[in-house]
Amino acid sequence: MSTTSAQALFAPFRSAKLSLDNRIVMAPMTRGFSPGGVPGEDVAAYYRRRAENGVGLIVTEGTLIDHPAAGASPSLPHFYGEAALDGWAGVVGAVHEAGGKIATQLWHVGMTRQPGTGTNPDAASVGPSGLNLAGEKVGQPLTENEIADLIAAYAQAAADAKRLGFDAIELHGAHGYLIDQFFWRVTNVRTDRYGGDLASRTRFAAEVIAACRRAVGPDYPIVLRYSQWKDGAYEAKLAETSAELDRFLRPLVDAGVDLFHCSTRRFWEPAFEDGADLNLAGWTKKLTGKPTITVGSVGLDLEFTRLFKEGKGAGTASLGGLLERLDRGEFDLVAVGRALLSDPAWAVKIKQGRQDELEPFAPQALGTLY
Ligand SMILES: Cc1cc2nc3c(=O)[nH]c(=O)nc-3n(C[C@H](O)[C@H](O)[C@H](O)COP(=O)(O)O)c2cc1C
Repeated sequence: MSTTSAQALFAPFRSAKLSLDNRIVMAPMTRGFSPGGVPGEDVAAYYRRRAENGVGLIVTEGTLIDHPAAGASPSLPHFYGEAALDGWAGVVGAVHEAGGKIATQLWHVGMTRQPGTGTNPDAASVGPSGLNLAGEKVGQPLTENEIADLIAAYAQAAADAKRLGFDAIELHGAHGYLIDQFFWRVTNVRTDRYGGDLASRTRFAAEVIAACRRAVGPDYPIVLRYSQWKDGAYEAKLAETSAELDRFLRPLVDAGVDLFHCSTRRFWEPAFEDGADLNLAGWTKKLTGKPTITVGSVGLDLEFTRLFKEGKGAGTASLGGLLERLDRGEFDLVAVGRALLSDPAWAVKIKQGRQDELEPFAPQALGTLY
């Protein structure tokens, strides 16, 4: 790959509410380095290194909203409480000092939380219908009052993110966690207004987005991350066709999403078997007219779920096909996960044509904040 061809990654990005120096996004990656839910100086330095080394937008690891059953481990960062929010202020300051931009990813794990885990082991796990990702009944459906409290918790986190100086928020609506549990027919069998057909199953997310919008005002960027696949159900699909995807996306756009982060494991795969070459970010951009972020095995030769299933790392891979797609405008931004987890200088190495210096991804990298 020549440095000239990598130029597509280094063109500035301009949109109505968000401008970035280049097209490289650090994908959100849970690290579990925040004891008691508080991100410390090591976490701030970790994100700062990516900003110093040319990442256009950092999306933080998933950060937990203020709800007793939001997370499944005490070392996941909170996005509530004075100590954790002070920690996040330190992260934002470090990234901005280095000239970077940063969004926080707001997260609630829903029914994927094993009972007895997280900061409040006694709290019951919550989800739309009390079903786990296998569709088994393991709890009670959320009541409308509980749903209203969850929406308020997302909105409070959004207001705090803006107050702390984050450049955007990203709502984690992917991978089978709480928001996605409302999207997915296997985990949402409600018969009230939060359940029903695919468009009706977007109601919870739409209300979260609208509440966040009221909290941050009209000019602040709201990103929604979503995926077809779920944790442990990689072939799952919310939408089987582009027409279904359209019905899914429309209410989310109307609610106020500015940018979609379309999570796939392999960016080059067509979203549908309809002969079109577009990936999920490509279709989402085409259908909504909103800018999109692609993700999935960028610069690596093995997808990330092989890490969790088999403990596998990945070698480096060419960016050829990715750059062509970016160049023709299929999507606007490119999120990079594991390659940036193990190599803080990934972006600058690509920019300077130092491909031979790129680090492969080794599972051991999870143990250190490089
Ligand atoms: C260690 C690790 C932690 C992750 N944590 C999150 C997370 O908190 N939120 C999220 O939306 N995705 C998470 N992901 C998925 C990544 O954001 C990304 O979509 C995935 O790794 C594919 O990108 P890659 O092939 O470049 O690694 C995580 C991935 C890894 C490897």
